[in-house]
Amino acid sequence: MITIREFNDTDAAMASVVYFESFRSYLKERMEITEPQPAEYWLKIMRHSATDEYENISFVAEEDGRIIGCISITAALKRRLGSLQRIGVLPECAGKGVGKMLFKAADEFWRKRNMRKVSSCVSSINPGALKFYTSCGFHVEGTLKDHFFEGVDEHQIALFY
Ligand SMILES: CC(C)(COP(=O)(O)OP(=O)(O)OC[C@H]1O[C@@H](n2cnc3c(N)ncnc32)[C@H](O)[C@@H]1OP(=O)(O)O)[C@@H](O)C(=O)NCCC(=O)NCCS
Repeated sequence: MITIREFNDTDAAMASVVYFESFRSYLKERMEITEPQPAEYWLKIMRHSATDEYENISFVAEEDGRIIGCISITAALKRRLGSLQRIGVLPECAGKGVGKMLFKAADEFWRKRNMRKVSSCVSSINPGALKFYTSCGFHVEGTLKDHFFEGVDEHQIALFY
């Protein structure tokens, strides 16, 4: 059974593998690291934090004690503007609805905080992810040319509530 729950510190090492493997699946030779980051790196990024103005949170998908997917998001509470920072599902677990389950947890989080808009971006070399985001209700707002890599555009995408 797959469970979606909030990230906790003990997930950091497995989350690092999930983000490494999932991003490598489309970045291929453009991947700038050759092995997953140390757990502490993701622990700092994924640990829940909240102020009056800003909240940062991650959710994980767990199956049989193993983390198979992660989503990391933020909410600017006064601006009512959310951001989907990253999502990744282990390549061998992709295409089975895990990404959608993670998005649902993020969607509930943003709705509870009364967001009016959520933004993210997706690479032009990652058409599968663009289809995923479109199926979640995002649309393309604009395109940044040659953004993170020369010859690779970045689509800015948004979801309005
Ligand atoms: C993008 C990603 C998170 C999707 O997760 P997933 O578990 O494979 O997606 P799901 O099985 O929940 O699919 C949900 C929907 O997206 C569509 N979709 C997902 N991946 C797709 C692909 N590669 N090609 C076409 N459609 C795709 C599915 O068809 C499904 O559509 P439906 O709801 O209309 O049936 C996952 O494939 C991944 O980790 N990719 C590598 C990392 C990445 O690209 N992250 C985003 C960077 S911007």
